[in-house]
Amino acid sequence: MVCALGIEGSANKIGIGIIKDGEVLANVRRTYITPPGEGFLPKETAKHHREAILGLVQSSLKEAKLQPADLDVICYTKGPGMAPPLLVGAIVARTLSLLWEKPLLGVNHCIGHIEMGRLITGAQNPIVLYVSGGNTQVIAYSNQRYRIFGETIDIAVGNCLDRFARIIKLSNDPSPGYNIEQLAKKSKRYIKLPYVVKGMDVSFSGILSYIEDLAEPGKRQNKRKRQQEEEVIDYSQADLCYSLQETIFAMLVEITERAMAHCGSNEVLIVGGVGCNERLQEMMRIMCEERGGKLFATDERYCIDNGLMIAHAGAEMFRSGTRMPLEEAFVTQRFRTDEVLVSWRED
Ligand code: FE2
Repeated sequence: MVCALGIEGSANKIGIGIIKDGEVLANVRRTYITPPGEGFLPKETAKHHREAILGLVQSSLKEAKLQPADLDVICYTKGPGMAPPLLVGAIVARTLSLLWEKPLLGVNHCIGHIEMGRLITGAQNPIVLYVSGGNTQVIAYSNQRYRIFGETIDIAVGNCLDRFARIIKLSNDPSPGYNIEQLAKKSKRYIKLPYVVKGMDVSFSGILSYIEDLAEPGKRQNKRKRQQEEEVIDYSQADLCYSLQETIFAMLVEITERAMAHCGSNEVLIVGGVGCNERLQEMMRIMCEERGGKLFATDERYCIDNGLMIAHAGAEMFRSGTRMPLEEAFVTQRFRTDEVLVSWRED
Protein backbone atom coordinates (compact mmCIF):
# COMPACT_ATOMS: atom_id res chain seq x y z
CA MET A 1 0.00 0.00 0.00
CA VAL A 2 1.42 3.34 -1.03
CA CYS A 3 -0.35 6.61 -0.28
CA ALA A 4 1.26 9.53 -2.12
CA LEU A 5 0.73 13.27 -2.28
CA GLY A 6 1.88 14.91 -5.52
CA ILE A 7 2.59 18.55 -6.34
CA GLU A 8 2.63 19.79 -9.93
CA GLY A 9 3.49 23.36 -10.90
CA SER A 10 5.71 23.25 -13.99
CA ALA A 11 3.63 25.72 -16.03
CA ASN A 12 0.52 27.83 -15.40
CA LYS A 13 -1.38 25.28 -13.29
CA ILE A 14 -0.69 24.44 -9.69
CA GLY A 15 -2.21 21.15 -8.63
CA ILE A 16 -2.15 18.77 -5.68
CA GLY A 17 -3.29 15.16 -5.89
CA ILE A 18 -3.48 12.28 -3.44
CA ILE A 19 -3.61 8.67 -4.56
CA LYS A 20 -3.65 5.41 -2.61
CA ASP A 21 -2.85 2.26 -4.56
CA GLY A 22 -4.30 3.61 -7.78
CA GLU A 23 -7.40 4.98 -6.09
CA VAL A 24 -7.92 8.70 -6.62
CA LEU A 25 -8.53 10.42 -3.27
CA ALA A 26 -8.04 14.08 -4.19
CA ASN A 27 -7.27 16.16 -7.28
CA VAL A 28 -7.34 19.92 -6.81
CA ARG A 29 -5.95 22.54 -9.19
CA ARG A 30 -5.82 26.27 -9.88
CA THR A 31 -4.90 27.86 -13.21
CA TYR A 32 -3.14 31.17 -13.71
CA ILE A 33 -5.14 32.87 -16.46
CA THR A 34 -3.71 35.92 -18.22
CA PRO A 35 -5.69 38.56 -20.18
CA PRO A 36 -6.37 37.95 -23.92
CA GLY A 37 -3.30 38.60 -26.03
CA GLU A 38 -0.90 37.82 -23.16
CA GLY A 39 1.03 34.68 -22.31
CA PHE A 40 2.08 33.66 -18.80
CA LEU A 41 5.51 34.78 -17.62
CA PRO A 42 7.66 32.78 -15.17
CA LYS A 43 7.82 35.33 -12.34
CA GLU A 44 4.09 36.14 -12.28
CA THR A 45 3.19 32.45 -12.62
CA ALA A 46 5.38 31.59 -9.62
CA LYS A 47 3.67 34.34 -7.61
CA HIS A 48 0.27 32.87 -8.49
CA HIS A 49 1.43 29.41 -7.41
CA ARG A 50 2.90 30.71 -4.14
CA GLU A 51 -0.42 32.29 -3.24
CA ALA A 52 -2.44 29.17 -4.05
CA ILE A 53 -0.32 26.21 -3.00
CA LEU A 54 -0.81 26.01 0.77
CA GLY A 55 -4.59 26.33 0.47
CA LEU A 56 -4.53 23.55 -2.13
CA VAL A 57 -2.48 21.25 0.15
CA GLN A 58 -5.07 21.74 2.88
CA SER A 59 -8.06 21.20 0.59
CA SER A 60 -6.48 18.06 -0.91
CA LEU A 61 -6.09 16.50 2.56
CA LYS A 62 -9.65 17.49 3.39
CA GLU A 63 -10.97 16.01 0.14
CA ALA A 64 -9.05 12.78 0.77
CA LYS A 65 -10.16 12.73 4.44
CA LEU A 66 -6.56 12.08 5.47
CA GLN A 67 -4.03 13.38 7.96
CA PRO A 68 -0.39 14.02 6.99
CA ALA A 69 0.53 10.92 9.02
CA ASP A 70 -1.45 8.75 6.57
CA LEU A 71 0.89 9.63 3.69
CA ASP A 72 3.84 7.44 2.71
CA VAL A 73 5.66 9.78 0.33
CA ILE A 74 5.64 13.39 -0.90
CA CYS A 75 6.19 13.79 -4.65
CA TYR A 76 6.86 16.89 -6.74
CA THR A 77 7.62 17.73 -10.35
CA LYS A 78 11.38 17.89 -10.84
CA GLY A 79 11.11 18.99 -14.49
CA PRO A 80 10.83 19.75 -17.33
CA GLY A 81 9.14 23.12 -17.06
CA MET A 82 9.66 26.76 -16.15
CA ALA A 83 12.12 27.11 -13.26
CA PRO A 84 10.35 29.72 -11.04
CA PRO A 85 6.98 27.89 -10.89
CA LEU A 86 8.74 24.51 -10.58
CA LEU A 87 10.67 25.84 -7.57
CA VAL A 88 7.46 26.75 -5.73
CA GLY A 89 6.35 23.11 -5.84
CA ALA A 90 9.79 21.77 -4.94
CA ILE A 91 10.25 24.07 -1.94
CA VAL A 92 6.82 23.25 -0.51
CA ALA A 93 7.41 19.51 -1.11
CA ARG A 94 10.78 19.69 0.64
CA THR A 95 9.30 21.59 3.57
CA LEU A 96 6.38 19.16 3.96
CA SER A 97 8.77 16.22 3.75
CA LEU A 98 10.84 17.60 6.65
CA LEU A 99 7.85 18.78 8.65
CA TRP A 100 5.89 15.56 8.35
CA GLU A 101 8.99 13.30 8.29
CA LYS A 102 8.05 11.64 5.02
CA PRO A 103 10.32 10.57 2.15
CA LEU A 104 10.52 12.89 -0.85
CA LEU A 105 10.60 11.99 -4.56
CA GLY A 106 11.17 14.19 -7.63
CA VAL A 107 9.13 13.03 -10.62
CA ASN A 108 9.56 13.60 -14.36
CA HIS A 109 6.51 15.52 -15.57
CA CYS A 110 6.14 13.57 -18.86
CA ILE A 111 6.32 10.23 -17.02
CA GLY A 112 3.54 11.54 -14.75
CA HIS A 113 1.31 12.11 -17.77
CA ILE A 114 2.05 8.67 -19.23
CA GLU A 115 1.44 6.72 -16.01
CA MET A 116 -1.73 8.67 -15.19
CA GLY A 117 -3.07 8.02 -18.70
CA ARG A 118 -2.33 4.30 -18.39
CA LEU A 119 -4.01 4.13 -14.98
CA ILE A 120 -7.19 5.95 -16.01
CA THR A 121 -7.69 4.32 -19.42
CA GLY A 122 -6.33 0.86 -18.71
CA ALA A 123 -4.12 0.99 -21.83
CA GLN A 124 -1.42 -1.65 -21.38
CA ASN A 125 1.45 -0.80 -23.67
CA PRO A 126 0.35 2.04 -25.92
CA ILE A 127 2.19 4.36 -28.26
CA VAL A 128 1.90 7.62 -26.32
CA LEU A 129 1.32 10.99 -27.92
CA TYR A 130 2.19 13.66 -25.36
CA VAL A 131 0.95 17.03 -26.56
CA SER A 132 0.85 20.20 -24.48
CA GLY A 133 1.94 23.83 -24.32
CA GLY A 134 5.53 22.81 -23.63
CA ASN A 135 5.89 19.31 -25.08
CA THR A 136 5.24 17.33 -28.25
CA GLN A 137 6.52 13.76 -28.21
CA VAL A 138 5.62 10.36 -29.62
CA ILE A 139 6.77 7.81 -27.07
CA ALA A 140 6.97 4.02 -26.93
CA TYR A 141 8.03 1.83 -24.02
CA SER A 142 10.92 -0.57 -24.46
CA ASN A 143 13.34 -2.14 -22.00
CA GLN A 144 12.47 -0.02 -18.97
CA ARG A 145 12.56 3.32 -20.76
CA TYR A 146 9.91 5.48 -22.34
CA ARG A 147 11.70 6.12 -25.63
CA ILE A 148 11.08 9.18 -27.76
CA PHE A 149 10.27 8.15 -31.33
CA GLY A 150 9.44 11.58 -32.63
CA GLU A 151 9.15 15.10 -31.31
CA THR A 152 8.94 18.74 -32.26
CA ILE A 153 12.15 20.28 -33.49
CA ASP A 154 11.08 23.77 -32.42
CA ILE A 155 7.97 24.87 -30.48
CA ALA A 156 5.37 22.57 -28.91
CA VAL A 157 2.02 22.07 -30.62
CA GLY A 158 0.19 23.70 -27.72
CA ASN A 159 2.53 26.66 -27.86
CA CYS A 160 1.67 27.09 -31.55
CA LEU A 161 -2.06 27.09 -30.69
CA ASP A 162 -1.60 29.38 -27.65
CA ARG A 163 0.40 31.91 -29.62
CA PHE A 164 -2.10 31.94 -32.47
CA ALA A 165 -4.91 32.48 -29.97
CA ARG A 166 -2.94 35.43 -28.61
CA ILE A 167 -2.55 36.93 -32.10
CA ILE A 168 -6.29 36.83 -32.75
CA LYS A 169 -6.98 37.95 -29.14
CA LEU A 170 -8.95 34.92 -28.03
CA SER A 171 -9.59 34.51 -24.33
CA ASN A 172 -7.18 32.41 -22.21
CA ASP A 173 -10.15 31.24 -20.12
CA PRO A 174 -10.39 28.28 -19.61
CA SER A 175 -7.51 27.84 -22.08
CA PRO A 176 -6.51 29.35 -25.43
CA GLY A 177 -6.58 25.92 -27.10
CA TYR A 178 -10.15 25.29 -25.96
CA ASN A 179 -11.28 28.57 -27.47
CA ILE A 180 -9.54 27.80 -30.78
CA GLU A 181 -11.33 24.43 -30.82
CA GLN A 182 -14.73 26.10 -30.31
CA LEU A 183 -14.10 28.70 -33.02
CA ALA A 184 -12.84 26.02 -35.43
CA LYS A 185 -16.20 24.25 -35.13
CA LYS A 186 -17.78 27.19 -36.96
CA SER A 187 -15.85 26.55 -40.17
CA LYS A 188 -15.30 23.77 -42.69
CA ARG A 189 -13.27 25.89 -45.05
CA TYR A 190 -9.67 24.77 -45.36
CA ILE A 191 -7.03 27.40 -46.09
CA LYS A 192 -3.87 25.69 -47.25
CA LEU A 193 -1.03 25.90 -44.72
CA PRO A 194 2.49 24.44 -44.74
CA TYR A 195 2.61 20.80 -43.58
CA VAL A 196 5.93 20.10 -41.87
CA VAL A 197 6.85 16.50 -41.01
CA LYS A 198 10.53 15.60 -41.11
CA GLY A 199 10.91 11.86 -40.68
CA MET A 200 9.45 11.18 -37.25
CA ASP A 201 9.71 14.81 -36.16
CA VAL A 202 7.42 17.79 -36.64
CA SER A 203 7.94 21.55 -36.78
CA PHE A 204 5.38 24.22 -35.94
CA SER A 205 7.18 27.56 -35.87
CA GLY A 206 7.06 28.10 -39.65
CA ILE A 207 3.34 27.28 -39.71
CA LEU A 208 2.79 29.77 -36.90
CA SER A 209 4.53 32.63 -38.70
CA TYR A 210 2.73 31.76 -41.94
CA ILE A 211 -0.69 31.87 -40.29
CA GLU A 212 0.30 35.01 -38.36
CA ASP A 213 0.71 36.74 -41.71
CA LEU A 214 -2.75 35.60 -42.77
CA ALA A 215 -4.35 36.70 -39.50
CA GLU A 216 -2.85 40.16 -39.42
CA PRO A 217 -3.21 41.62 -42.90
CA GLY A 218 -1.51 44.96 -43.12
CA LYS A 219 0.85 44.31 -40.23
CA ARG A 220 3.37 42.29 -42.17
CA GLN A 221 3.84 43.48 -45.67
CA ASN A 222 5.67 40.57 -47.14
CA LYS A 223 5.44 38.86 -50.46
CA ARG A 224 3.93 35.67 -49.18
CA LYS A 225 1.03 37.46 -47.52
CA ARG A 226 0.22 39.34 -50.71
CA GLN A 227 0.31 36.12 -52.70
CA GLN A 228 -2.06 34.51 -50.25
CA GLU A 229 -4.43 37.40 -50.33
CA GLU A 230 -4.66 37.08 -54.06
CA GLU A 231 -5.61 33.43 -53.73
CA VAL A 232 -7.91 33.70 -50.73
CA ILE A 233 -9.42 37.08 -50.15
CA ASP A 234 -11.92 36.71 -47.37
CA TYR A 235 -11.20 34.19 -44.69
CA SER A 236 -12.49 34.41 -41.17
CA GLN A 237 -10.77 33.72 -37.86
CA ALA A 238 -12.85 30.53 -37.69
CA ASP A 239 -11.45 29.39 -41.08
CA LEU A 240 -7.93 29.95 -39.79
CA CYS A 241 -8.56 28.09 -36.50
CA TYR A 242 -10.10 25.20 -38.42
CA SER A 243 -7.25 25.05 -40.94
CA LEU A 244 -4.58 25.28 -38.23
CA GLN A 245 -6.08 22.43 -36.23
CA GLU A 246 -6.60 20.20 -39.28
CA THR A 247 -3.01 20.72 -40.44
CA ILE A 248 -1.11 20.29 -37.19
CA PHE A 249 -3.28 17.40 -35.97
CA ALA A 250 -2.81 15.57 -39.30
CA MET A 251 0.95 15.89 -38.77
CA LEU A 252 0.64 14.36 -35.29
CA VAL A 253 -1.57 11.53 -36.57
CA GLU A 254 0.99 10.77 -39.28
CA ILE A 255 3.97 10.35 -36.94
CA THR A 256 1.89 8.44 -34.39
CA GLU A 257 0.73 6.01 -37.08
CA ARG A 258 4.30 5.46 -38.18
CA ALA A 259 5.35 4.69 -34.59
CA MET A 260 2.46 2.20 -34.31
CA ALA A 261 3.56 0.46 -37.50
CA HIS A 262 7.19 0.35 -36.37
CA CYS A 263 6.37 -1.10 -32.94
CA GLY A 264 3.54 -3.35 -34.11
CA SER A 265 1.30 -1.68 -31.54
CA ASN A 266 -2.47 -1.37 -31.76
CA GLU A 267 -2.99 1.08 -28.91
CA VAL A 268 -2.57 4.85 -28.82
CA LEU A 269 -2.79 6.93 -25.66
CA ILE A 270 -3.04 10.71 -25.92
CA VAL A 271 -1.92 12.70 -22.87
CA GLY A 272 -1.19 16.38 -22.12
CA GLY A 273 -3.36 19.48 -22.30
CA VAL A 274 -3.84 19.40 -26.10
CA GLY A 275 -4.99 15.80 -25.62
CA CYS A 276 -8.37 17.18 -24.43
CA ASN A 277 -9.04 18.50 -27.95
CA GLU A 278 -11.92 16.44 -29.28
CA ARG A 279 -11.02 17.02 -32.91
CA LEU A 280 -7.52 15.63 -32.31
CA GLN A 281 -9.07 12.64 -30.54
CA GLU A 282 -11.50 12.11 -33.43
CA MET A 283 -8.77 12.22 -36.09
CA MET A 284 -6.57 9.87 -34.06
CA ARG A 285 -9.50 7.50 -33.44
CA ILE A 286 -10.22 7.24 -37.19
CA MET A 287 -6.60 6.36 -37.90
CA CYS A 288 -6.52 3.78 -35.07
CA GLU A 289 -9.76 2.11 -36.15
CA GLU A 290 -8.60 1.90 -39.76
CA ARG A 291 -5.62 -0.08 -38.48
CA GLY A 292 -7.76 -2.27 -36.21
CA GLY A 293 -6.38 -0.47 -33.17
CA LYS A 294 -7.80 1.48 -30.28
CA LEU A 295 -7.48 5.04 -29.01
CA PHE A 296 -7.28 5.86 -25.31
CA ALA A 297 -7.78 9.40 -24.07
CA THR A 298 -8.75 11.11 -20.83
CA ASP A 299 -10.75 14.21 -19.96
CA GLU A 300 -9.46 17.54 -18.63
CA ARG A 301 -9.21 16.33 -15.01
CA TYR A 302 -6.37 13.99 -15.93
CA CYS A 303 -4.91 15.14 -19.25
CA ILE A 304 -4.31 18.77 -18.25
CA ASP A 305 -1.38 19.08 -15.81
CA ASN A 306 -2.41 17.91 -12.35
CA GLY A 307 -0.90 16.89 -9.02
CA LEU A 308 -2.45 13.45 -9.18
CA MET A 309 -0.25 12.31 -12.05
CA ILE A 310 2.85 13.26 -10.03
CA ALA A 311 1.47 11.42 -6.98
CA HIS A 312 0.73 8.33 -9.06
CA ALA A 313 4.07 8.17 -10.91
CA GLY A 314 5.84 8.91 -7.60
CA ALA A 315 3.91 6.10 -5.89
CA GLU A 316 4.98 3.67 -8.64
CA MET A 317 8.61 4.74 -8.23
CA PHE A 318 8.36 4.44 -4.44
CA ARG A 319 6.74 1.01 -4.65
CA SER A 320 9.57 -0.25 -6.87
CA GLY A 321 12.20 0.92 -4.37
CA THR A 322 13.27 4.32 -5.74
CA ARG A 323 14.48 6.69 -3.00
CA MET A 324 15.91 10.18 -3.28
CA PRO A 325 18.26 11.88 -0.80
CA LEU A 326 17.20 15.38 0.23
CA GLU A 327 20.29 16.91 -1.47
CA GLU A 328 18.90 15.75 -4.81
CA ALA A 329 15.64 17.59 -4.32
CA PHE A 330 16.28 20.22 -6.98
CA VAL A 331 14.41 21.17 -10.14
CA THR A 332 15.63 21.15 -13.72
CA GLN A 333 14.11 22.92 -16.71
CA ARG A 334 15.32 20.21 -19.08
CA PHE A 335 14.58 16.62 -18.14
CA ARG A 336 13.96 14.22 -20.99
CA THR A 337 11.43 11.40 -20.74
CA ASP A 338 14.02 8.75 -21.66
CA GLU A 339 16.41 9.73 -18.84
CA VAL A 340 14.20 7.93 -16.30
CA LEU A 341 14.71 4.23 -15.58
CA VAL A 342 11.18 2.80 -15.47
CA SER A 343 11.90 0.51 -12.53
CA TRP A 344 8.20 -0.20 -11.87
CA ARG A 345 7.54 -1.95 -15.19
CA GLU A 346 8.86 -5.40 -15.87
CA ASP A 347 7.40 -6.06 -19.33
FE1 FE2 B 1 2.14 18.61 -19.10
